[in-house]
Amino acid sequence: MEASETIVSKLKSYDQEHLLKFWGELSEQEQQQLTKQIESIDFDLMASLIQQRDESQGEAVSAGRIERAQSPAQLVRLSDSSESHEAAAKAEKRGHELLEQGKVGAILVAGGQGSRLGFDDPKGMFPIGPVSDRTLFQVMCEQLVARSRRHGKPIPYFIMTSEATHEPTVEFLKKNQYFGMGEENVFFFQQSSLPAVEHDSSRIHLAEKGRIATSPDGHGGMLRALEKHGLLQVMRDRGIEHLYYHQIDNPTAILCDPVMLGFHDQHESDLTTKVVEKVSPDEKMGVLVTIDGQTEIIEYSDLTPEQARMKDENGNDVFWAGNTAIHVFRRTFIERLLEDEFSLPFHIAHKKVPCIDSSGNPIDPDSPNAHKFEQFIFDALPKAEVALVVEGVRSREFNPVKNAEGNDSPETSRKALQEIARSWVEKAGGKVHPEATIEVSPLFALDEDELAARIDSGTEFQEDAVLAPK
Ligand code: UD1
Repeated sequence: MEASETIVSKLKSYDQEHLLKFWGELSEQEQQQLTKQIESIDFDLMASLIQQRDESQGEAVSAGRIERAQSPAQLVRLSDSSESHEAAAKAEKRGHELLEQGKVGAILVAGGQGSRLGFDDPKGMFPIGPVSDRTLFQVMCEQLVARSRRHGKPIPYFIMTSEATHEPTVEFLKKNQYFGMGEENVFFFQQSSLPAVEHDSSRIHLAEKGRIATSPDGHGGMLRALEKHGLLQVMRDRGIEHLYYHQIDNPTAILCDPVMLGFHDQHESDLTTKVVEKVSPDEKMGVLVTIDGQTEIIEYSDLTPEQARMKDENGNDVFWAGNTAIHVFRRTFIERLLEDEFSLPFHIAHKKVPCIDSSGNPIDPDSPNAHKFEQFIFDALPKAEVALVVEGVRSREFNPVKNAEGNDSPETSRKALQEIARSWVEKAGGKVHPEATIEVSPLFALDEDELAARIDSGTEFQEDAVLAPK
């Protein structure tokens, strides 16, 4: 079969004819797949992204803007003062009301490829429970089940997947009966993909003779994907007004945290972000800042080591407020962004992409050979009329699994889960033997108060144990 005239002339006009170079060697099925892939590509968008790449000076955020950055202005900081406890208690009460009224949903972004961890399945299938090996997906779903039971209203879960993670994610959750969520409360939506481009030319990479190398369009793709899958309508129909957004990699995130929800609503915030203090200026966390009166996030890769150490006039670090990637979105804010046809900017990443060379030989590069284009959801921040920033307790709330070893690894994350469980048991008057590991199922207790109500003070754990409902 010949390639269709339309496709040939389209590729020609965008200088991408090489994509058909091996057409004659492909089976009919491969030809159909390649045609489908080519038809799905927005070549105008690709041309403008490539042009943008070629014109950029390699500076994503101008040095001038970075110099004008200040610590986030609209901020609820952690403090031990009684006013601060009182404010948190009031916020928590408001958060409970929102949950009891069924106004809260949750969004999970799980479309990433988890390449740093070196785990081939979707990251959510990674075993994280220190004793039980329960997966990240299970920890998240069980938290939502427990929270919806506590407040008497279901919490719909909107799970974003990508081309690579969609099928295995859906299959895994289905096989596990959605960990008790109820099928009617789980909504999968697949984000789009974009082709990877050769780093020293404008050509799109072929992964194989009949397949273009693509990758997810970044978590900012969530906006279009929610709309495309009709999920804003689902949210409206179900009376959802606020969406707790989180990443798949952090099992200690407090899903639908009532305190955060309460502060968000009390401040009439469009988009609220949870921050924790960075451990060092070099830590790979985006930072929350205010620039010219607007709240935004500067990604870690956009700051030089010297810039990351910038101090304010009082000698304090400007870039201390690390982005945990936990947000609360007001649904109407998302709708406004979509109505205004607001387009998030694209970021360019220089990455290693397996591909074929011009003779069709496979290449597994050991240094970056491609540019990928991604939108970041937090670039919506400057569009928010009110963008609140709330500080969280780092050891309790931010223990992600990113790297195979070292910091932010399965080892540090499991250790954190274990320490949180130990501290809850001790607060309840119990004891854990120094050698024993305790794990608390979210279905048993969501927090220390619930745990205290469930175990007798004086309970001692001599051996590893999972505290779970019978
Ligand atoms: C991210 C944040 C960083 C923050 C840190 C906190 C970005 C660009 N940076 O860094 O500011 O301090 O988390 O842990 O997000 N994902 C998708 N689709 C995509 C790309 C990613 O769903 O196309 C999801 C992933 O599955 C993951 C999350 O987004 O859940 C984070 O992606 P990742 O690339 O790992 O971000 P980090 O570099 O860790």
